[in-house]
Formats: sequence, C-alpha cells, structure tokens
Amino acid sequence: MFALRPASPADRAALYRICLETADSGADATHLYRDPRLVGHIYAGPYLAFEPAFALVLEDGDGVGGYVLGALDTAAFEARLEREWWPALRERYPDPADVPLGARTPDERLAYLLHRPQRADPAVLAEYPSHLHIDLLPRAQGGGHGRRMLERLFAALRGAGSPGVHLGVGGSNTRAQGFYRHVGFQELARAPGGSLTLGLRL
Ligand SMILES: CC(C)(COP(=O)(O)OP(=O)(O)OC[C@H]1O[C@@H](n2cnc3c(N)ncnc32)[C@H](O)[C@@H]1OP(=O)(O)O)[C@@H](O)C(=O)NCCC(=O)NCCS
Repeated sequence: MFALRPASPADRAALYRICLETADSGADATHLYRDPRLVGHIYAGPYLAFEPAFALVLEDGDGVGGYVLGALDTAAFEARLEREWWPALRERYPDPADVPLGARTPDERLAYLLHRPQRADPAVLAEYPSHLHIDLLPRAQGGGHGRRMLERLFAALRGAGSPGVHLGVGGSNTRAQGFYRHVGFQELARAPGGSLTLGLRL
C-alpha cells in the first residue's frame, strides 16, 4: 500500500537514490557513475531545497518508492540555482570543458552541466512556466501512482497560478514518453539527439 505525502528534508537521501536508480532512461544508472550523488545534485536536490511546496513522495512499508518534483516558475528557479546552488558544487566538481567531448566520462558529462546548466527555452516558458520531474522505482510503477502524483502536482501548480507545465524526456525513454502523452502532454520540441520537450496546460 503506497501513500502520497509532502517531501521533507529527511527524504533527501531517498530522493538522491531514486534519482540515480531511474537515471538510465528510466532504469538503474548506479553502474554508470562513480559519484552516486551527482545525478541527484542536478535533478533532485535543488527542488527539495527551493520548491518544497511542489515536492511529493510516494511511500510504502519499504520506504520511499518514488517522487514528483516541480518548480513553479522555471526562470526564477534557474536564477536562484545560479546564485545559491551551483556555486558550491562548482567548487567541488571541476569543469571538464578541457576534456574533449567524446573522451568525457559519464561523471564529467554531468559535471559539465553543473558549470553550464541547461536553460529552458523562453518560448516554452511563456506558456508553460512550470516544470517537473517524476521517478518511481520498479515496485511503484504501473499501478496508477504516476498519474495520481502528477494530478496532485498539477493541482498545486494550478492553485499557485501557473498556466502550464513542461518537462524533458530522453529519446530512448519510450515508456515515459507514452505515459506523458497518455496523461495529456503534447510535444513542444524535439532535439537532434531525440530528447523531447513536452507541455501541458493546467
Ligand atoms: C514513467 C512513470 C513516471 C509512469 O508512472 P507509472 O505509475 O508507472 O504509470 P501509471 O501506472 O500511473 O500510468 C498512468 C496511465 O498511463 C498509462 N501508461 C503508462 N505507460 C504508458 C505508455 N508507455 N504508453 C501509453 N500509456 C501508458 C497507463 O496505462 C495508465 O493509463 P490509465 O490511467 O488510463 O489506466 C514511471 O513508470 C517511472 O517513474 N518510470 C521510471 C523513471 C522514469 O522513466 N521517469 C521519467 C523520466 S523523464
């Protein structure tokens, strides 16, 4: 039996672990990275720290099995990370810009993102200013929890005045793409590598 509840600072380690265990196109990426915290520093930690009103966890007797993390105003969130989140990480993880692209390790590819975070397209933000990440461990998948968690997040974002939410999904994560389209997301952009930006009006 799973229950949904607001995330708390005590969930940080669980969020980082789930982030890593779903980071390989939805599958476990533990074997890919030497530093198990890097993925979470980018895709989980800042949401828990700065947008706790839009952070929910799914929990059963075995602990936290999934989360949905949202940011209400992506532009403001990105600006805050630039001031308060990335500087400390940039001290800890060197910039791999001098390593040729093809020679970078998976850790270096993530470290590159700490130094040059991806910024959302202003044209997307005009209609879909919020964004989200959702990740469930295998034991929590396929039971309707993903849809329920998104609906709870949509209600919170709508209640805070957001007109739309967007997200990014990798080109090889076809399962998640199918899920997002099924719950109402539409394609906004497709990058050369195949990753998609999807959006939904709230
Ligand atoms: C993708 C993910 C969030 C979906 O959550 P879930 O709990 O497994 O999905 P649900 O059971 O809530 O599915 C909701 C609905 O979507 C449908 N659906 C799920 N996957 C689908 C697919 N690939 N294609 C079409 N419909 C799909 C379900 O049939 C269900 O339909 P219904 O509500 O009309 O009965 C979850 O599987 C997950 O976290 N996967 C691993 C991490 C990941 O890939 N995260 C996304 C990174 S961008």
